[in-house]
Amino acid sequence: MELSNVKYEVKGTTAYVTVNRPKALNALNIDVIAELKRAFEAIESDDAVTGVILSGEGEKAFVAGADIAQMKEYSALEARAMATAAHSVMNSIEECTKPVIAAVNGFALGGGCELAMACDIRIASETARMGQPEVNLGIIPGFGGTQRLPRLVGKGMAKYLIMTAEMIDAAEAYRIGLVQKVTAPGELIAECEKVLATINKKGPFAIKLAKKAINNGMQADQSSALKNEIELFALTFATDEQEEGMAAFLEKRAAEF
Ligand code: CAA
Repeated sequence: MELSNVKYEVKGTTAYVTVNRPKALNALNIDVIAELKRAFEAIESDDAVTGVILSGEGEKAFVAGADIAQMKEYSALEARAMATAAHSVMNSIEECTKPVIAAVNGFALGGGCELAMACDIRIASETARMGQPEVNLGIIPGFGGTQRLPRLVGKGMAKYLIMTAEMIDAAEAYRIGLVQKVTAPGELIAECEKVLATINKKGPFAIKLAKKAINNGMQADQSSALKNEIELFALTFATDEQEEGMAAFLEKRAAEF
């Protein structure tokens, strides 16, 4: 695949997607957004890929936001088109049928924080700095931040972060539940790989359905979400994975999925 602003590599069963504009701290311009879309289409159609690690090139930034230089002269209609394209990418990541881990290796601000939030799990380097600084620029988060942030950290904390534009460190991001683990910078990718390896040992269909149940449920009222869980739970009983998982438990051996 020919990409110039995003690196795409498959090693073993893991796809490594790396935003590659380090001179602009990996800011998301319209080309990066289009290439991310293509990378996640490739991931979806490649049966050999069982998980994804998404990161930013270099040691300084995951992604420092949408590209301010590109957006500066945008009309409202151009801003709308860019946000629509970015939302489509964020939705592809959130709905990807494989687990996606954000390796937050530095600044994850604005659109960068929004990109990390579209992933299933966020693991941060101790050097990570996260936030939604859009109001400093006279705009609001436009790549999903007003919706995904409150769903991850609660309405009050989301309003605090968006309205103050405060940039928080990795320890604070962990404390509020924005990231799930913090590691030394040199161990970040290895830690993401470790988490993916743990997930890969489970039944892949069960992982897909667990993700789907959570995602569907977060967009529905509780009663519909619980009904949806019943259906997806029942569906797992139509699989070899359930047979193997339960047989392995009763035979006191490790399951082989
Ligand atoms: N867009 C375009 N260029 C960016 C950028 C961005 N979001 N963030 C950094 N850069 C560029 C800088 O302009 C600079 O370029 P030059 O070398 O050509 O001058 C280069 O990256 C390095 O950045 P700094 O010199 O600013 O580095 P620093 O260490 O002094 O500061 C920083 C780092 C605090 C992250 C600072 O770069 C910064 O505040 N960046 C902007 C963060 C931001 O506001 N993000 C939100 C964008 S709006 C958005 O994302 C809307 C949305 O919801 C989609």
